[in-house]
Amino acid sequence: MKSPLTARFWHSRVVLITGSSRGIGLQMARCLLPLGACVVITARQTESLTEAEKRLRQEFPEGQMSFFAADLTNPQEAALLVAHTLETWGHLNLLVHNAGLSMRGSVEQTVPEVVRQVIEVNFLAAYWLTREAGAALRASGGHVEFVSSQAGLRGFANVVPYSAAKMSLTALSQGLRAEWKTVTAGVAYLGFVENDPQKTLLQADGSTTTYQRPWKMKQQEAARFVLWAAQHKKKKAVSTFLGKLLALLQAWLPDVVDWVISRGAGRLHRVTKNAKI
Ligand SMILES: NC(=O)c1ccc[n+]([C@@H]2O[C@H](COP(=O)([O-])OP(=O)(O)OC[C@H]3O[C@@H](n4cnc5c(N)ncnc54)[C@H](OP(=O)(O)O)[C@@H]3O)[C@@H](O)[C@H]2O)c1
Repeated sequence: MKSPLTARFWHSRVVLITGSSRGIGLQMARCLLPLGACVVITARQTESLTEAEKRLRQEFPEGQMSFFAADLTNPQEAALLVAHTLETWGHLNLLVHNAGLSMRGSVEQTVPEVVRQVIEVNFLAAYWLTREAGAALRASGGHVEFVSSQAGLRGFANVVPYSAAKMSLTALSQGLRAEWKTVTAGVAYLGFVENDPQKTLLQADGSTTTYQRPWKMKQQEAARFVLWAAQHKKKKAVSTFLGKLLALLQAWLPDVVDWVISRGAGRLHRVTKNAKI
């Protein structure tokens, strides 16, 4: 595990974590509340969000938190979320773009609506919220952390729209660093992480499915990794040895990566209901 998250750094920092009603985002809130951060949790579904808030209040009675339901694919709802954060806490230090939507399907078989939704949730939602939070982040000299994936380092079979959306977060973070001199931005590239039982992903035809993998990182470990990257303002943080190897080979020997991946094309991101991949 990377160096620990320090209360000295996190105490009183206002942190907005998207997609925090479950999974990795909820674990991030669990990491930060005992350190004294002021945490805003958010997701679309009010019911699961209030349930998450209730659980966090039971676990951390002293924890400072607020919640706000918003569909971040809608720029107006992104603006309302930023307004809630500033009205409740006065400022914003860290914005973590964690909300995401996963999918499986080949380029030919995936219907346009799935492609649209995946780009909307993984890229446009992050873009709208970043845009709305810009003034607050510049005022605080804050940090933006994007949660990406190894599929954001290179394309894989059966996840092209997801991969494209995650890659675009790299461009967004690089562009932000150039446009907003007082704000830092970075991307955390995660490998396979255990899935929340409530998590669904889209299939090529637009139907949803659930799945679990036998080998994966714990959610808590992934959450700590993302927050560690934010604490240290890493521009690029790649989790796991395999992820680091992939990033290195992709940069220096892309033909080798093409060859290796084409040999197993489809297998890595194949999915059937509750598939053991
Ligand atoms: N799990 C993995 O193996 C893995 C690997 C690499 C990277 N990642 C990335 O890590 C992040 C978290 O993954 P996870 O597995 O914890 O995801 P998850 O369990 O599916 O949680 C996604 C969260 O995003 C929220 N959300 C979805 N659409 C939204 C929208 N339009 N507006 C606002 N909130 C929305 C969901 O709540 P509502 O449905 O109520 O909105 C939920 O709270 C994602 O960005 C994912 O791509 C995950």
